[in-house]
Amino acid sequence: MEGVKGKVCVTGASGFLASWLVKRLLLCGYHVIGTVRDPANEKKVAHLWRLEGANERLKLVRADLLEEGSFDDAIMGCQGVFHTASPVMKSSFHPKALTEEIVELAVKGTVNLWYALAKAQAEKAAGEFCTENKIDLVTVLPAFVVGPSLPPDLCSTASDVLALLKGETEQFQWNGRMGYIYIDDVALCHILVYEHEGASGRYLCSSMVIDHDEPYYEFNTSKITSLGFKFRLIEEMFDDCIKALVEQGHLFL
Ligand SMILES: NC(=O)c1ccc[n+]([C@@H]2O[C@H](COP(=O)([O-])OP(=O)(O)OC[C@H]3O[C@@H](n4cnc5c(N)ncnc54)[C@H](OP(=O)(O)O)[C@@H]3O)[C@@H](O)[C@H]2O)c1
Repeated sequence: MEGVKGKVCVTGASGFLASWLVKRLLLCGYHVIGTVRDPANEKKVAHLWRLEGANERLKLVRADLLEEGSFDDAIMGCQGVFHTASPVMKSSFHPKALTEEIVELAVKGTVNLWYALAKAQAEKAAGEFCTENKIDLVTVLPAFVVGPSLPPDLCSTASDVLALLKGETEQFQWNGRMGYIYIDDVALCHILVYEHEGASGRYLCSSMVIDHDEPYYEFNTSKITSLGFKFRLIEEMFDDCIKALVEQGHLFL
């Protein structure tokens, strides 16, 4: 562990992305206040308590995005807040049951559009609030995240990867052409921009873009790589993901 650092809050701490962030923050020496909707839900939080440094420097508190003022206690006294809690679009939203292709496309498109719009609006609102209240806001925008899941229940994107590995490509194709990033790199990018005094604005984080197995185009990630960040390769993220899925009993080879 590095030297002991200050207190930070991670919202939605039990999630796929946040669990890795909590893990990395604890390893860096931070005191972490993690918010979850139900701290008593053993199944959802047990993996957090197993992290190195958790017994000494992790506290889980209850907070729900839908309840006003719910995060006040968690954030109080923290030097930084990593906000990852978000309702995440589930694959079950896919209107698979509908047989008419045109209806399916329209519904999928609408769900995608509204989800993307909601995320963009949330970021805009956060930006306006932070400017008004003189709070530094830095946004990390990861591509599709791949890697070992610390929570036992797979989030929607990890389930999509599992489906792909099982040959159920339809679920994955729905994601289309996109960039990929290793889950641990997402956590490390968050900490890098948090600790870097000159960091500001939005940071696009992606290792590589793939379309039908061929590199197609790349995102411009020079803003984060200019801070010294080096993304891990797509082979490594899938190798480690597959290994973890096998160990966790999700995948049988
Ligand atoms: N996974 C990816 O590939 C990917 C890529 C780019 C961006 N992102 C973004 O990263 C963020 C986290 O995604 P993830 O993949 O880690 O998803 P996840 O595993 O589903 O985590 C989402 C977390 O949000 C919490 N949450 C949901 N509704 C909430 C509410 N009403 N109040 C408080 N907490 C709530 C959940 O908490 P509970 O445990 O209480 O249910 C869960 O821990 C999202 O904003 C997502 O859009 C993800």
